[in-house]
Amino acid sequence: MRPVLLPAAAVLIAFVPAAPAVAAPAEPQQKVPVATGYGGAVATVDLDATKAAISVLRRGGNAVDAAVAAGAVLGVTEPYSAGPTGGGFLVYYDAARRKVHTIDGRETAPKAMTASSFEGIPFEEGVTSGLSAGVPGTVATWDLALRRFGTLSFRQALQPAIEVASKGFVVDQTFYDQTAANAARFKDFTSTAKLYLPNGAPPPVGSVFRNPELAETYRELGRRGPGWLYGGRFGAEIVATVKRPPVTPGSTRNVRPGLMELSDLTAYRALLREPTKVSYEGLDVYGMAPPSSGGSTVGEALNILQALPHVGVHEYLEASKLAFADRNAYVGDIPGVPLKELLSDGFAKERACLIGDQALTPPVAPGNPDGSYGPCAQPTGIASPTAKEGPETTHLVVADRWGNVVAYNLTIESTGGNGIVVPGRGVLLNNELTDFTFGPAPGDPNLPGPGKRPRSSMAPTVVLKGGKPVLALGSPGGSTIITTVLQILLNRYDFDMNLEQALAAPRATQRNTAQTQAEQGFLDAYRAELEARGHQLVLNPEIGAATALEFLGRDKVQVVAEPSRRGGGSAMVVRSR
Ligand code: DON
Repeated sequence: MRPVLLPAAAVLIAFVPAAPAVAAPAEPQQKVPVATGYGGAVATVDLDATKAAISVLRRGGNAVDAAVAAGAVLGVTEPYSAGPTGGGFLVYYDAARRKVHTIDGRETAPKAMTASSFEGIPFEEGVTSGLSAGVPGTVATWDLALRRFGTLSFRQALQPAIEVASKGFVVDQTFYDQTAANAARFKDFTSTAKLYLPNGAPPPVGSVFRNPELAETYRELGRRGPGWLYGGRFGAEIVATVKRPPVTPGSTRNVRPGLMELSDLTAYRALLREPTKVSYEGLDVYGMAPPSSGGSTVGEALNILQALPHVGVHEYLEASKLAFADRNAYVGDIPGVPLKELLSDGFAKERACLIGDQALTPPVAPGNPDGSYGPCAQPTGIASPTAKEGPETTHLVVADRWGNVVAYNLTIESTGGNGIVVPGRGVLLNNELTDFTFGPAPGDPNLPGPGKRPRSSMAPTVVLKGGKPVLALGSPGGSTIITTVLQILLNRYDFDMNLEQALAAPRATQRNTAQTQAEQGFLDAYRAELEARGHQLVLNPEIGAATALEFLGRDKVQVVAEPSRRGGGSAMVVRSR
């Protein structure tokens, strides 16, 4: 996305007390992927979202205020990746209390959903359906985050997004391409075609795209509060859209209606959850607990690696393979996920001992995280590979002048969610419930169920040393999120890269699948070595779109976005000196 017509900073003056004068760097008019400085820092995929967050920080807001403001702007400028009718996970380091909090804003299944609700439905049909729309968690996440940890009101935090939605942004190639790739299904819904195919085609590159209906939706949310969605009129409209999708007359698409009721919206809560925590090379790595598999899988892989005498790319792929086998077998939104055991050193040692010179043949079987560990137990469970994943969703990082840190993943799942805009509201519905296992799959922890949250791979991560934050990171990319976060951590702490290099380095992802996907640069560097050790490699042109920040000492922060993946990201600091 390119610059908005009106700088978000101008908008905020109306409601946030002025901060002391600072040596603010001139605002870049284009995305810059790396910035280093003081007083706060932000990285997102989008210049407008980063500017909005920086503006909040400059006006005296904290990291949570800035993260919510940026998230809401991303709902405008990255509407196919995120929005108020989606979900996400937020990890927050609270500097005053020296404590890591996490918010689970994952969508829920309606009460009427059962383990067989998706059985027999082709995946692609599930993607574009009312059935796949989960009860949205993003608005509840913003509300909870602001009430517990922020200083801005809900209304204030939405203000920059309202401005961007009404003034518009310049359509870039990525937005055009994403719209074009979705055109076949967008045209099948009257509301979506009207918004995103204005003259029967995607808005041209260079044109200004305005979304006044979304501006009004945010305004109403600000005026009426989250209850407008969770049981109020907006909620009723979401339910009506899910149950009777506005299919274009003459369309032959089989659009399955959803099961959502207003009572499902009334029942929704974003939840404060205990983070996952593992210690790795003297660092404490905090992440998201179930229903995300992000924290447990990154954590288990790090523990496995720590149990090995040497860490290289072969070991990275093998640890990830084993951790994914356990994720697939044990992690979901169910009671009794053996989280403590999955993250125990004993279990990690048992798993690590399976790693040898040659690659294990995937899919490998899960281990037995039962608390009783031998020196080298052979797994006995049933192996399952990880499903295919798309590249969308978004992640942002924020640090403020007080040392608070946010890592926040938000999503509507597929590029363009379920493809259905709520008529008159300017927002696409999510299709997060396609993250459930469709089944039949007896014993699978991730089958759908009433009120259940689909297992996620989102892995917003904060790393502490001696109780103070040193790093924060995360990425989009479905289950490749986990390997991207893991690989960046290894690049930074084992492979001798600085943070900028750690993000830019070519990626590979092994998720207990027959082939390891890898970017071209990774293939060029490691193909021969890894094939000699039994790995099968296949090209994946682009894996992830990470954002990260690192404290460099004496309040200096470096914030890093992608140099080129997904068109590059936008990093800014409050003060360069
Ligand atoms: O929660 C998850 O892991 C996914 N629904 C996130 C979506 C994403 O990154 C793009 N992939 N399909």
